[in-house]
Amino acid sequence: MVGRRVAGYRLEEEIGRGGMAVVYRAKDLRLGRTVAVKLLAPELARNEMFRQRFTRESEAAAAIDHPHIIPVFEAGETEGILFIAMRFVEGGDLRGLITRSGPFPVDRAARLALQVGSALDAAHDRDLVHRDVKPGNILVAAGTDDEHPEHLYLADFGLTKKSLSLSGLTSVGQIVGTLDYAAPEQISGRPLDGRCDQYSLGCVVFEMLAGAPPFRRESDLALLWAQLNDPPPTLRTLRPDLSEAVDAVVARSLAKTPEDRWASCLQFVAELRAAATPVPGPWESAGPPTQVVPAFGTPASADVPQPPAWATPVVYPVRSAPL
Ligand SMILES: Nc1ncnc2c1ncn2[C@@H]1O[C@H](COP(=O)(O)OP(=O)(O)O)[C@@H](O)[C@H]1O
Ligand SMILES: [Mg+2]
Repeated sequence: MVGRRVAGYRLEEEIGRGGMAVVYRAKDLRLGRTVAVKLLAPELARNEMFRQRFTRESEAAAAIDHPHIIPVFEAGETEGILFIAMRFVEGGDLRGLITRSGPFPVDRAARLALQVGSALDAAHDRDLVHRDVKPGNILVAAGTDDEHPEHLYLADFGLTKKSLSLSGLTSVGQIVGTLDYAAPEQISGRPLDGRCDQYSLGCVVFEMLAGAPPFRRESDLALLWAQLNDPPPTLRTLRPDLSEAVDAVVARSLAKTPEDRWASCLQFVAELRAAATPVPGPWESAGPPTQVVPAFGTPASADVPQPPAWATPVVYPVRSAPL
């Protein structure tokens, strides 16, 4: 396909391949800019239900103007192929970042999760459920400075075939895509809302902290069973340096029943950040303020007049917060 023209784009290089699509770096011939063009597998174009949802949800996602949702420039069909043109993100995806530099300290994992969580909540506010939150759908661009070394984009709204495949496997009896991040209600085919994305985000956070998603099983069936029935492993068995509080926050996002999870993705991340830094404010807990005898000047003695008590310097013990 490289070198071919699709709609108004010239495909230049294959940059990734998933279960049902190929992604190319391409040139937008009208504007001369580099974009990413995703070509969906032809059998998806033949699936009427998928086509309808693809069109509806790519329009809905394109309408959300959010700093952490990949900007979609165009979605359509040409010569029987469904395609989507979007911002080209140099820097790979979160899968690569975890492989290169994970597992992460909690504050870094929380900073990354915050970006994805804010994108998800924005989508949920518009009744849009992503359904396929996973490291491969979180793209990593260079951030603005040392404090924000990476800028994440959530990609692939409405592109999952999982809900189709899970409700009936595929025509060849295989499950498309990964089940590592699939919520129990997705597996059992119950109605979905934003809380299924929170579960998947919980699996991604678990992986950022522990190096692997919560459930690892020999077969897809065993994995399905585990997502539905097994309690997630305690994070601290894998990361003894983490606090019980962090464990509890992540475990709640992974509750089997949506009602038992956090109210929103941003609440989940806020709790994670709070659990990561259980530090009192500078005036709390580190003890009462003490009045000190000045270490300078003449030593205190009866014949030298002393300043009144209110003039003695007061030193508050300050505990510095780890960053
Ligand atoms: N806009 C983009 N810019 C750069 N790379 C992308 C973009 N979209 C997708 N990719 C890359 O292409 C790969 C394949 O994408 P996809 O077909 O959605 O498969 P999956 O999401 O299952 O990994 C992704 O893992 C990602 O690294
Ligand atoms: Mg994808």
